[in-house]
Amino acid sequence: MKKILLTGCAGFIGSNFVHKICTADSCLEEYQFVILDALTYAGHYPSIQKVVEKSKNLSFVKMDIRDGHALKELFLAHRFTGVINFAAESHVDRSIDSPNIFIETNVLGTLNLLNCSLELFRSNPDFRYLQVSTDEVYGSLKLSDPAFIETTNLSPNSPYSASKASADMLVRSYYKTFKLPALITRCSNNYGPFQYPEKLIPLMIYNATKSIPLPVYGTGSNIRDWIFVDDHNHGVWEVFKKGRVGEVYNLGGDSEMVNLEIVKLVLKKLGKSENLIQFVTDRLGHDFRYAMNFSKAKQDLGWSPKVSFEHGLEKTLEWYKANWDWVETVKLKSSK
Ligand SMILES: NC(=O)c1ccc[n+]([C@@H]2O[C@H](COP(=O)([O-])OP(=O)(O)OC[C@H]3O[C@@H](n4cnc5c(N)ncnc54)[C@H](O)[C@@H]3O)[C@@H](O)[C@H]2O)c1
Repeated sequence: MKKILLTGCAGFIGSNFVHKICTADSCLEEYQFVILDALTYAGHYPSIQKVVEKSKNLSFVKMDIRDGHALKELFLAHRFTGVINFAAESHVDRSIDSPNIFIETNVLGTLNLLNCSLELFRSNPDFRYLQVSTDEVYGSLKLSDPAFIETTNLSPNSPYSASKASADMLVRSYYKTFKLPALITRCSNNYGPFQYPEKLIPLMIYNATKSIPLPVYGTGSNIRDWIFVDDHNHGVWEVFKKGRVGEVYNLGGDSEMVNLEIVKLVLKKLGKSENLIQFVTDRLGHDFRYAMNFSKAKQDLGWSPKVSFEHGLEKTLEWYKANWDWVETVKLKSSK
């Protein structure tokens, strides 16, 4: 039985990973998962509690990846065969207001995980480490630029993306220096169930539902590539199982959209007026465009995104409608 440590899986992407990947029949016989999360404002244990309590192959521990001593004890007690690191401070706006915690969690926390992983790798050559990273490490594109490829130079522009790029560099260095079997995935903007309502799509759903103004940065002309969270997680799992160690894999949604178009679409689908749109002062250092070339993951692993933006947005809206108590609970928790 393989024993995998999953960090940050009470958050948005990780909780979807637990629901869709960990409990798949193909995983039940072969894998045990230990889910670790510090339960910050973005981590909500009830998002995964039922499935953790029901599944024999899942357990949960509340822990902070900044605590190297606690991590070391956990690694020695469980002797993990692999790690997938989702844990991070993930919101660009917060990184502009309070950058230090981004360095502590995203860089030093990753370093702690790498050091613990190295200890286990020394007695288990099959050990694998996967770092979940982001397209934001590549910086910003002009309209005419080609999409990012894995060898595009890293040019992070926000404290968030700088912290993620730093972590990627550490992961690379542990592969190059110590031969730690490490891999990196870089993904575009995710959307779907269980996303804390501060990022574009859930924030717009929240405000539109409540009929309060929808803040749009600048002129709303920024462009992102959007991927439904399950597509991302299938990509992470494929890379973890079959990717070549030492490699980076881009994962994209094949769905470039202008922010303002998304906001208008959400309003239309919820039957609300565009008069609710409120243009606000642009984010400092706001990246104009991200776009992902994921042909490497397609060719090497046979992975490609399956959910169209239109369908993914429908599924997301349905989920928020059916789980409004979750939305109110996480908002209340973070306001305390
Ligand atoms: N959301 C996106 O669009 C996107 C896109 C590409 C990559 N990513 C990356 O995917 C990962 C998950 O993103 P998300 O959107 O689910 O983020 P999220 O903010 O929803 O969740 C992060 C989780 O990490 C936990 N966490 C934070 N600090 C911690 C610490 N010190 N120790 C242990 N746990 C801690 C939080 O409690 C939370 O459960 C991140 O690494 C992020 O950089 C996100």
